[in-house]
Amino acid sequence: MSIISHGHTGAARGPETDPGIAEARAALQGFELGRFLLSNLGLNGYWTSYVLMHPERGRLTNRSSDGSPMTELESRLLNRCPIILATQERFQLFRALTQPLIRSGMRLASLPGGLMDDLLTLDYSGVEDVVLTAVDLDPDSLSGAEANYRQRNPPVTIECEARDAWNLESADRWDLITSNGLNIYVEDDERCTDFYRSVARALRPEGMFIVSFITTPDEWQPTSASDLDYQRFLFQEVLPVKWTCVRDEGKTRQQLTQAGFDVISVTYDEQRMFPAVLAKRRR
Ligand SMILES: C[S@@+](CC[C@H](N)C(=O)[O-])C[C@H]1O[C@@H](n2cnc3c(N)ncnc32)[C@H](O)[C@@H]1O
Repeated sequence: MSIISHGHTGAARGPETDPGIAEARAALQGFELGRFLLSNLGLNGYWTSYVLMHPERGRLTNRSSDGSPMTELESRLLNRCPIILATQERFQLFRALTQPLIRSGMRLASLPGGLMDDLLTLDYSGVEDVVLTAVDLDPDSLSGAEANYRQRNPPVTIECEARDAWNLESADRWDLITSNGLNIYVEDDERCTDFYRSVARALRPEGMFIVSFITTPDEWQPTSASDLDYQRFLFQEVLPVKWTCVRDEGKTRQQLTQAGFDVISVTYDEQRMFPAVLAKRRR
């Protein structure tokens, strides 16, 4: 299902969306993240990390990625856009689910790794011999993950591997895999289930899988209806983004079960947009 089939049309726009599409596009040209979105209609590892880290970086300084003062649109995007706020909250949900599972000797992977913030921001004090693997198709994301590792310097080893998520060529290898930001680009349900099968094969029996999904818009409980209206205007009319593959909890549970997992928990964010699932590979 696609987000694009839901929500308000241009005709239903309120005064908040008055600037018009051309004006909004011009405003997006005014900052690096906006320019990337205009060209790519999605986020790569670098820009996902920028969005995730915003609460502890740009939100405090009001500076953009290039050091200039944040424009009104970028600030609105990063501080008020419901799906962006849900993404930032989802990141904290992943960390809270993963942290208590960390043990000495574990092999963890992030797939797609992006800049690996989900694993690199955990606390590894008191554990030994932990190896993290960043798996991503994009060499820039892998070098970004390596740079992020060097900067954060956690007491773990990191491996960066260029692999396709559907073809990991790894069986019974990892104890835990995290995955955010890939299934939301996969329209076909069977292909999405195949991705989960690929993860199940790569995990050891009883290995843990932490994965997110974007819920269907009828489930959303945005903290601000007008901000959701503006999000729809921006991400449907101005910039038809590609992260539109939404699924409800029932579908996600069914897919994970078919792929060989037992779902242990589904934890929702405040706006019920971007939950985090903890699942265990069956023996
Ligand atoms: C939205 S980012 C998410 C990154 C990271 N998981 C995070 O949450 O910060 C999506 C990432 O998926 C990677 N990617 C896209 N298709 C892939 C595939 N078939 N196999 C592996 N990685 C892929 C992209 O290179 C990009 O780094």
